[in-house]
Amino acid sequence: MEFLRWNLISSFLLLCFPTLSLTSRLFSPVDNYLIDCGSAAVSTIDNRRFVGDLSGGNELPLSFSGRWFSMRNENPVPGLAPIYHTARIFRSPSKYAFPIRDKGTHMVRLHFNSFNSRGFDLGEAQFHVLVDQFVVLSNFSLVNSENPRIMEYLIRVDAEELVIMLVPTEKSKIAFVNAIEVISAPKDLVPDTAQYVSSKNVVNFDGLSNQALEVVYRLNVGGPKVTPFNDSLWRTWMPDDKFYKPNPQSKRLYFGGRIKYQKGGVSREVGPDNMYNSARLIKSMNASVPRINMTWQFPVTGGYKYLVRLHFCDIASISIGLLYFNVYVNGNLAFEDLDLSGITGLLASPFYADFVVDTDSFGALSVNVGPSNKSIPYVVDGILNGIEIMKLNDSRNSLDGEVCAGFVLKSWPRGNSGFFLTLLAAICIVLSISLVIRRRVLGLGDSFPWSRLPVDISDEHVKISGLPSQSK
Ligand SMILES: *[C@@H]1O[C@H](CO)[C@@H](O)[C@H](O)[C@H]1NC(C)=O
Ligand SMILES: *[C@@H]1O[C@H](CO)[C@@H](O)[C@H](O)[C@H]1NC(C)=O
Ligand SMILES: *[C@@H]1O[C@H](CO)[C@@H](O)[C@H](O)[C@H]1NC(C)=O
Ligand SMILES: *[C@@H]1O[C@H](CO)[C@@H](O)[C@H](O)[C@H]1NC(C)=O
Ligand SMILES: *[C@@H]1O[C@H](CO)[C@@H](O)[C@H](O)[C@H]1NC(C)=O
Ligand SMILES: *[C@@H]1O[C@H](CO)[C@@H](O)[C@H](O)[C@H]1NC(C)=O
Repeated sequence: MEFLRWNLISSFLLLCFPTLSLTSRLFSPVDNYLIDCGSAAVSTIDNRRFVGDLSGGNELPLSFSGRWFSMRNENPVPGLAPIYHTARIFRSPSKYAFPIRDKGTHMVRLHFNSFNSRGFDLGEAQFHVLVDQFVVLSNFSLVNSENPRIMEYLIRVDAEELVIMLVPTEKSKIAFVNAIEVISAPKDLVPDTAQYVSSKNVVNFDGLSNQALEVVYRLNVGGPKVTPFNDSLWRTWMPDDKFYKPNPQSKRLYFGGRIKYQKGGVSREVGPDNMYNSARLIKSMNASVPRINMTWQFPVTGGYKYLVRLHFCDIASISIGLLYFNVYVNGNLAFEDLDLSGITGLLASPFYADFVVDTDSFGALSVNVGPSNKSIPYVVDGILNGIEIMKLNDSRNSLDGEVCAGFVLKSWPRGNSGFFLTLLAAICIVLSISLVIRRRVLGLGDSFPWSRLPVDISDEHVKISGLPSQSK
């Protein structure tokens, strides 16, 4: 099992973890836009200030173009956060441009909550959303539901600005959004290398930080929901119960002690104390190690690659050097004889591993954790604290739907037949055809090395010509 010896581990070991970083210095992002769309006021949620995008003045340096109006929900359900009481409605392709001071990965969160006001129903809106050159939502709509939808993306920005574009479908002619967050991510949040796991082997997957990622699941294994208030990057971690296959031989564990973040190791921004301090585990109670797995299963949209980030922290063992277990992703051995204290040198010190997998058209993704050949009787023989599952953009630079950004922009019928858009669409076609040919030539299925886009479709060029200027 030579292939399971990771570069990752050796680099972790080299750092030796000599020092604990016990100070809880707060992360302060350079770019930190919190926008309450369609509002002229400031809404504060969990001590976070969302500034109304109609408030004028210089507080918001972002620029906006498109045809729009704003709407207020006159009868919000009690307790609904104020950012969901207003929306900005778009009647033509419209864009927000956020100046970027800190190049690199950014977290982008889009908040949607449809409501009815004065006979106008946002549930009928259907639209596409682009973030820079990536299609993040296509033919998106919200049936009138009382729960807000929050979409989260991790996207690397190398340009001076990040552009979010909303494009109504020809059918509905309306797009909307309630709130937007654009926040620079800590530099260690998305490393460049993960492990690509297939039925054949485990190999390095490079270029992870170039991918646009959509957060599909983020789970606190064995524990309660962690809200943005309690997370270092204002994320939400849901309980894992809906995805866990009940297993009487596994237990939940809550740890009241301190999580030991170490210099050079996993930072509090990668995973908060509130996630690492709960887990599910397998413990052997007698002289035989149980031959079982803990199993999680996730419905996903097939045909994409996914990043599976597994968070481990040995909050259960009584001593170092006793815990060994195997980790499987999609039924394939991803990590054999994982020895957490061998990596971190300490108990209660976090570690995570990134795996990239392909999914078939059935669209199911599974994670198993269970004892290995090295597991020891009478002690803990498997543990997992957190799971994050993120979708990778496909070769069309899309996270949703079958088309690339050029086609989305072309889909708006009026006044957008600028030369560049035509060129963009042409590039899309050439790209798609060449990929098909390549796939045929190489005789490959879904997993093959995609070539980089031949041009940089940065927002500089995605300007909508002949767009009517902003109106109320
Ligand atoms: C934050 O976490 C603490 C426990 O760690 C919990 O008691 C509290 O309710 C949480 N607050 C929110 C707003 O989730
Ligand atoms: C160990 O305990 C398990 C249940 O926890 C039981 O199924 C198994 O038979 C026991 N093995 C021995 C050798 O006692
Ligand atoms: C655990 O799951 C893996 C992957 O599906 C499987 O190969 C292995 O046999 C399972 N182990 C047990 C004891 O069921
Ligand atoms: C464990 O040991 C068995 C028997 O020696 C071997 O067949 C298997 O490949 C080993 N590894 C795993 C993951 O089961
Ligand atoms: C995602 O987009 C990036 C940037 O365009 C590209 O390099 C990468 O190959 C795409 N990912 C996949 C899996 O096609
Ligand atoms: C939206 O749906 C229509 C019809 O199902 C399809 O033809 C079109 O390509 C989709 N648009 C996008 C941007 O996915």
